[in-house]
Formats: sequence, C-alpha cells, structure tokens
Amino acid sequence: MIKNIIIDSDPGQDDAVAILLALASPDLNVLGITCVAGNVPLSKTSFNAKQICELAGKPEIPLFAGCDRPMGRELVTAEHVHGKTGLDGATLPEPKIELKTTHAVDFIINTLREAPKKSITLCPLGPLTNIGTALQKAPDIIDNIKQIVLMGGAYFEVGNITPAAEFNIFVDPEAAEIVFKSGIDLVVAPLDVTHKALTNQAWVSELKAQNNTICDVVAGWTSFFERFDVEKYGTEGAPLHDPCVIAYLISPELFSGRHINVEIETKSELTRGMTVADWWGVTDRPANALFLNDIDSEGYFRLLTTRISKL
Ligand code: BDR
Ligand code: CA
Repeated sequence: MIKNIIIDSDPGQDDAVAILLALASPDLNVLGITCVAGNVPLSKTSFNAKQICELAGKPEIPLFAGCDRPMGRELVTAEHVHGKTGLDGATLPEPKIELKTTHAVDFIINTLREAPKKSITLCPLGPLTNIGTALQKAPDIIDNIKQIVLMGGAYFEVGNITPAAEFNIFVDPEAAEIVFKSGIDLVVAPLDVTHKALTNQAWVSELKAQNNTICDVVAGWTSFFERFDVEKYGTEGAPLHDPCVIAYLISPELFSGRHINVEIETKSELTRGMTVADWWGVTDRPANALFLNDIDSEGYFRLLTTRISKL
C-alpha cells in the first residue's frame, strides 16, 4: 500500500538524500515538504528544499517554510558540518519554484484535519519545532497521524553536538518532549543506528558509475560532509543519518531495535536534549518508541543507489 507522508526537514546534505529517496519511491506519496530552521537558518533550508525538488524533477511537490527558531530557545545551527549553504558539495542552479504561502505548521494541521484517521506518516529529519508547534496548537490532529518516523537522539552513541545530545533533539528539546509525550506511534532512528550507516568509497564510486546527474550531485554532497565525521570519528565515511527514516518506511526489515521508553531532558544545561532511553527496562515507564539500533547497511546503500539512479 502506498504511504502518505509529510517530510519535515532542515536540508542539509543527508536530508537532501532522504528527500531524493522519498521522491524516487513509488510506494511513498509525498504530500508536502515542510522546512524548519536547523542545520542552517530557515531561509536557507527552504531555499535548499526548492533546489532539491528541482533537481529531482518534481517541481509539483508543495513546499512550505515553517518555524525560524526553536519553541523556547535561540537557534543553534551546524554550518561546521554542512557548510555555509547547508548543501555545500555540489553547485545547483537558482531554483525557479516558489514556496507556498501557507505556514508549514498550518499546512501540517490542515492536511491532517482533512485526512482519515491514522492515515498520514510524519517524517521529521531536523529539529522537531514544526511538529511540536502543530501538536501544541492542534492536539486533535493526533488521531489522524499514523506514525512519526524521525531521525534524532542517541543512547549508546550519546551525543554529536554535545557530549550528551544529538543535534536535532538538542536544538529544540521542548518540541521533542511534546512529540515523545504525545502517545503517537513513534519510530526513532538515533545515532545508534545512523552511525552504522556509514558511506564508503565503494558506494561513492558506484554512484559515480551510474552516469546520472543526480547521483553525481549526491556523490558531491557526500564527499563534502564526510570530511567532518571522518576527522572526528576516524571512520572511512560519514553517517548518512536522515535517509534511514525514509528507508525504514520502504524496507523496515533493514532495521531492528527495541520498543522502549524514551524521555527528553529539557532542564539541565549539561545534558540538554539528551534522549534518556530505557534500553535495559530498568524503570516502569511505558514504552513510547521503537528505538532502532541496527541496520543492514549494505541493503541500505543498495536501496539508495537503485532508487535514486532512477529519478
Ligand atoms: C542530524 O543533524 C543534522 O546535522 C543531520 O541532518 C541529521 O538530521 C544528525 O545529528
Ligand atoms: Ca537533518
């Protein structure tokens, strides 16, 4: 069955690859892409979303700009990873498509209010500000959300932006808390799984061998953002975080994890945005998320090449 999804994103090279994978997948119907401030400010994430849809040859996908800062904090960005534009690593033409004038949060609310019960899957790939704001403004939409599959958090891998926290949750922990306490069916792709989805030279060469412009762009992006993680972690490649969300929707059998309780730390300065994951079941707190921790990475990269090369 075709899944109706809304992608909420802060592109970002890995967000871009996730969006391309979704747009290349006939089993997914992308109802819209909502942009949020995160890796770079909102003006750039929404500009990048336009470039990505044009690159994919899908100018008809509705694009919306959303929140330009977290629900209760100053924005923190990640140009040190993604470059000044957020999409450094390939040169793309000035996009011609326009953003819709509706605010992303209103698009999410209106679309869900008009949808049947449990019919739309939300796919957040950045800070959870748009989703948290929508849930706060219109809690009635919860019934019509089928699932939220998101990239964020970490347990064994702890943090990438601070010693304790992963970037997406760190940037807007209050929004994340709303999502994790919402009772919605949640699937979480934390660093524990994305750090096993490492790019490598063989994959980049395979992409280049496709003789496909989009694959060349993906190779360029990947090679750019790799430099940061390769230096930091000493690995051969970099974690391709966000496409895990889309790959999970297409091929959940590539992933495994545990249904556990996950709470968000919002109070402490030291551990702000930490995902406190009860992996070992040491509390009585009820499970609220499927927390992924393993991936068939060969299958994952095969899926990416096969689908994206057909765009
Ligand atoms: C997450 O943060 C961003 O830098 C990536 O796009 C990904 O969504 C990884 O921590
Ligand atoms: Ca992202």
